[in-house]
Amino acid sequence: MKIYSYETLDSTNEFMKNNISKFEEYDVVTAENQTLGKARRGNTWVSQKGMALFTFLVKKDENSNLDDSEYLKLPLLAGFSVIKGLKKIENLDYMFKWTNDVYLDEKKLCGILSERNGDNFYIGIGININNHLPEKLKNIAVSLSEKTGKQYDINEIAVYITEEFKTLYTDFINGLWNEILSEINSRNFLKNKKISIKSGKNLKSGIAENINNDGEIEVLINNELHSFSFGEIMNEKIMIEK
Ligand code: BTN
Repeated sequence: MKIYSYETLDSTNEFMKNNISKFEEYDVVTAENQTLGKARRGNTWVSQKGMALFTFLVKKDENSNLDDSEYLKLPLLAGFSVIKGLKKIENLDYMFKWTNDVYLDEKKLCGILSERNGDNFYIGIGININNHLPEKLKNIAVSLSEKTGKQYDINEIAVYITEEFKTLYTDFINGLWNEILSEINSRNFLKNKKISIKSGKNLKSGIAENINNDGEIEVLINNELHSFSFGEIMNEKIMIEK
């Protein structure tokens, strides 16, 4: 694992993709700032100095015969590796918000964009660490530094998280998904919350339950358990009522 740090990049995901011949598995690219940070569903990630902005490279495992669909679980592993890595720095009550955000105090702390190109997976992570959030975002987002009043070493955080991912991914390949899943479920932010899901043209409401073995979220709608796979729930349409 090597860490490549830059002052400004367009996007750490794009940079790694465009220079893939330079990188090996678990190498990390960090940037202090990004001019064209990418979020999920083609949105822009507004980067701020002080955020942890990084991408690490993961490769499809050549030796195992994991079905391709199994790799859809990597964002879940990434979210959980963020929680484990951050806990080494500050042992707080981080929660995993399906499919791939990390929350603290009911607010967004981290977003993850994982992209695939052939056998390469680019796990892009943006965490509010030393940055101060603009007033208009303070009711929906939180930074670690605002929570604790401390400043953190961002490269150290990026390395801890990548190491945690490596351990989880190795366990995953070795068949320990059920154990990982039960740990993820113990940090399931949506559990027991009322959420609205856009399904086709309809907006349905229900109570979120566990994440199931296929990595889908289960939702109790009119006393029936429905499961929703990646992409079926549009996050912006998840309206959480307590
Ligand atoms: C989301 O919440 O929609 C995901 C946001 C992911 C942002 C990170 S910042 C580092 C990496 N590089 C990018 O361009 N995006 C990810």
